Amino acid sequence: MSKQIRKILVTSALPYANGPIHIGHLVEYIQTDIWVRFQKQRGHTCHYVCADDAHGTPIMLRAQQEGITPEQLIADTWTQHNADFKDFNVAFDNFYSTHSDETKHYAELIYARLQEQGHIHSKTITQAYDPVKNMFLPDRFIKGECPKCGAADQYGDNCEVCSATYAPTDLINPISAISGEKPIEKDSEHYFFKLADFEKMLQKWTKSGHLQEQVANKLNEWFETGLQDWDISRDAPYFGFEIPGAPGKFFYVWLDAPVGYMGSFQKLCDDSGLDFAEYWDKDSSTELYHFIGKDIVYFHALFWPAMLTGAGFRTPTAIFAHGFLTVNGEKMSKSRGTFIKARTYLEHLNPEYLRYYFAAKLNNRVEDIDLNFEDFSQRVNTDLVNKVVNIASRCSGFIKKRFDGKLSAECAEPALFAEFVDASEDIAQLYESREYGKAMRAISGLADKANQYIDDKQPWIVAKQEDSDQQLQDICSVGINLFYVIACYLKPVVPEMVAKAEQFLNAGEFGWPEQLTPLTDHSINKFKPLMTRVDPAKLAALIEASKENLEKKAPAPKKTSKAKAPEQAAETIEFDDFAKIDLRVALIEKAELVEGADKLLRLSLSLGDETRQVLAGIRSAYTPEQLEGRLTVMVANLKPRKMRFGISEGMVLAAGPGGDELWILSPDDGAKPGMRIK
Ligand code: 2FM
Ligand code: ZN
Repeated sequence: MSKQIRKILVTSALPYANGPIHIGHLVEYIQTDIWVRFQKQRGHTCHYVCADDAHGTPIMLRAQQEGITPEQLIADTWTQHNADFKDFNVAFDNFYSTHSDETKHYAELIYARLQEQGHIHSKTITQAYDPVKNMFLPDRFIKGECPKCGAADQYGDNCEVCSATYAPTDLINPISAISGEKPIEKDSEHYFFKLADFEKMLQKWTKSGHLQEQVANKLNEWFETGLQDWDISRDAPYFGFEIPGAPGKFFYVWLDAPVGYMGSFQKLCDDSGLDFAEYWDKDSSTELYHFIGKDIVYFHALFWPAMLTGAGFRTPTAIFAHGFLTVNGEKMSKSRGTFIKARTYLEHLNPEYLRYYFAAKLNNRVEDIDLNFEDFSQRVNTDLVNKVVNIASRCSGFIKKRFDGKLSAECAEPALFAEFVDASEDIAQLYESREYGKAMRAISGLADKANQYIDDKQPWIVAKQEDSDQQLQDICSVGINLFYVIACYLKPVVPEMVAKAEQFLNAGEFGWPEQLTPLTDHSINKFKPLMTRVDPAKLAALIEASKENLEKKAPAPKKTSKAKAPEQAAETIEFDDFAKIDLRVALIEKAELVEGADKLLRLSLSLGDETRQVLAGIRSAYTPEQLEGRLTVMVANLKPRKMRFGISEGMVLAAGPGGDELWILSPDDGAKPGMRIK
């Protein structure tokens, strides 16, 4: 039976066009992107659209402050957002703007249809007005003293000191946060969407499996308090779409924001020949999913389905809400350096670390997730680098050197390979249901099995035995094939790393491995490191740089930290002194733990025609598996030293302060064991 190909349209919430993307935003874009990549890898037709949320008072005011037009501001922000997403491998099929003809078209169409059906009414309301700026003031632009505790400088409708909630008109000595002037009260006619007209439909819709249980329960509370009319108009000056037939009145930014999903998709249709109606018509058989944060559930689970229904469009198949991000257990903080912008992150660390880390932490509930930097480094280093990448690096050296890059003609462990492939349905289910943390654990379990297989078979020992070629090739080929399956499973999460694996295995683009057969009698390419460990110095620099973002006004004085003195430069030596040191490229053939010595590894280093045993103090930084098969640099003419755990016949070169912050040196590709370093 052939598999049913689904047609799916997916969105992430639209970021406001007046601020940078930060790691809090990225939880959602990464979560969605993984899901979309997974669907595509499974062979479904899946479109992923997003846009900048470009309208509203804050954007208008921000542009004024910067002395540019709102159009200029949103164009600049779009360019930055687009680059941030691209560099985090968030692969929208279209990233657009709500300030577009397409969004305008659908906003007007929806409004006209709602009006025709009698779901819009107008009434005059009284609001705070800035008499200097000549504009109505949204709640967040009025500040004053809290009516309850008297705290100064409280904004809008709640007090940050005593948590009281109130109407902005209750503030004592209110002033406009824009002009500093005392606001006056002024009447104006506003347009309202009668949400209560849709109560029956919403009651049913919210209870029919379109929402997570927690969200559905929350909505129940709102039903109990009664559905209120929704104020969808704002008076000029306002950056947005003017309401047809209502001069000086504009659609409230939240009316056209979700319509931006349609606008962005329409643009994609125009560019690629897709059929808009197939995805949005009332009787559409396609699927529509919105990934959002828990703070905007009200808009997506009540207003949006009501608007769509009222205007004769389909409703979403499901809305997937996620929680917020905390960093080291606390709210992101600019002073602690944990308010990390996407761009700042990219300047320091590999984006796929964060993609993997978020995947490892995400589930399908509306729970906050925590980014803990220690945990972050550990998971990336242990799960991805030490476990997964290591499988390939342990086996590839032998295949390349001894078998000219060719894998065995037959898979020596068909049952083991089949076991890996058979996990595909369970892992798919976990991705499908957004249980990424569980998916990562299942994949990690397979990586453990693959490493165990290699440990048991000890190819590095087999390699030294006579007449063992076939056996060695078989073991390493199995290892590589197990890595192949694992890489397929990880592709939605770390696409860039897996692209390198695709190049290494030379077997085309990896699909979902449900029918995967092992690579046999197949030539692979040279192994290049797929991912390196998190560099603690770079992580520290990222946090430091994020702190500095805050201190723009008064740049921090240059730090003269006494805690860590810079490394002393050594005194100069004569060239002859240097020439005495015989530095050679060495192949780490074998690395073993040394019983009783918790800092040492025993390395067997090949210099081509001879092998040296070196006791190296690098155990806190490397596992034996990470080293075996690697080239490094050694001092080959160091007098052998008798140590407690044996004789050491040389020294490997490493950089860093020590402990787990140590990096051994490696020559570039092409160097051969025994080559002299000059
Ligand atoms: O909360 C926000 O950041 C909004 N800009 C999200 C809009 S999502 C959708 F409705 F457009
Ligand atoms: Zn208060």
